[in-house]
Amino acid sequence: MSTYFCEKDAKNLIQLNKKLISYHNNNNKANSAKLCKESPKEQMDHSNMNRSELLQKCSSMGIKNCSSKNKSELIALINAKQTSHESVSTNNTSTDTTERKYTFIEVCSGGGGLSSGLIKSGFTPVLLNDIDGDCCKTLKRNHANANVVCGSMDKIDYSQYVNKIDLLTGGVPCQSFSQAGLRKGLDDPRGDLMMKFIEILNIINPKTFMIENVKGLITHDEGNTIKKIIEELNKNDLYNVSYKCLDASKYDVPQKRERVFIVGVLKSLNRNFNFPVESDTKKVLKDVLYNVPTSNGAKYSEEKKELFKLIPQGGCWVNLSETLQKQYLGNSYNSGGGKRGILYRLSMEKPSLTLLCTPSQKQTERCHPLEERPLTVREYARIQTFDDSYEFIGSLNSQYKQIGNAVPVELAKSMGKSILEVL
Ligand SMILES: C[S@@+](CC[C@H](N)C(=O)[O-])C[C@H]1O[C@@H](n2cnc3c(N)ncnc32)[C@H](O)[C@@H]1O
Repeated sequence: MSTYFCEKDAKNLIQLNKKLISYHNNNNKANSAKLCKESPKEQMDHSNMNRSELLQKCSSMGIKNCSSKNKSELIALINAKQTSHESVSTNNTSTDTTERKYTFIEVCSGGGGLSSGLIKSGFTPVLLNDIDGDCCKTLKRNHANANVVCGSMDKIDYSQYVNKIDLLTGGVPCQSFSQAGLRKGLDDPRGDLMMKFIEILNIINPKTFMIENVKGLITHDEGNTIKKIIEELNKNDLYNVSYKCLDASKYDVPQKRERVFIVGVLKSLNRNFNFPVESDTKKVLKDVLYNVPTSNGAKYSEEKKELFKLIPQGGCWVNLSETLQKQYLGNSYNSGGGKRGILYRLSMEKPSLTLLCTPSQKQTERCHPLEERPLTVREYARIQTFDDSYEFIGSLNSQYKQIGNAVPVELAKSMGKSILEVL
């Protein structure tokens, strides 16, 4: 008899469970994501989350090696972690609540795109550095607890950090490798900063390092420059070094922006580094260009405004009449190349083209999709995925430069999470 009741109870429970699951499946994603956070029993159903969401949750729970797992393995790991967490908190047996701090030093921090993303991923800055006064003020304003050292990176005394740091990073200046720049490479004083970074690396001996640079670094001098840098990094045979060019638009950033990341992990850690997995979805401008806080912005001349009135979203100078094209381009009308950056109007339905240090130049326009004007400072910051609360100090030009130079915060966060997995 009692067996009969148990079976019946079990059947009822299964049916109730099925109803609950189908209720959650019929609700929208946001709703189920919210439920996942709030109710311990409902936390067990992660089947509505896509792999990218699961990866994020997995990493944020401090689970190691998330990126190598498939969807069902991720769900199993998350559930196991939640169960153990719940049982610890219900039994109240947890004794050690001290969280391990993962520290980083960043040189050439600029306005703080890379550092903001690393902080969001779980790292703590112990030293941020830049040679530019405005950048230092911006860093101090937004990272009140960090030690911001203003000056050249090679003039800092790093002795107190030897063997104590989890990550040394820096986006050492890139003009000498960029496609648009002089491409003098390591012989240029700015390229030489790359060698200075390696000297600092050899002094500090951090557990990991990450160098960020422009895509042109890979092809510079037919690949010899990157080869030389990797050789230098491998000289002491201490680190496993790998590099990859990542497009920010594949990491929740509404902007096409390709950057090279060189990552090294101490061989003694015996861990494999995996670059972050690309997101399943792509962000476009309509996802971020709404309710943007008011801010200053550059202006167009009346002549340029009239031209942009003739150009649709995603269009450029080619949308003008031949007469206007010749009038605007002058001698460059007959020069080769697509010149698509000229009089380019962004599209709400696409990611932005790469934002530059200035929002408006004759050869590189990124006109607002719906209005005849350049993007404002806060729109620039949104596209670079800075929080609206992140403040930039300095003149209008300086603010645009700090934002245009930055590693998009979300891309930096993805890199930070991948590095944390080996620590
Ligand atoms: C590409 S930006 C870095 C952007 C930064 N990674 C971010 O995400 O915001 C390069 C920075 O290097 C700084 N810089 C140039 N030479 C330097 C030096 N010798 N020491 C420290 N910083 C330097 C520049 O002022 C500039 O802000």
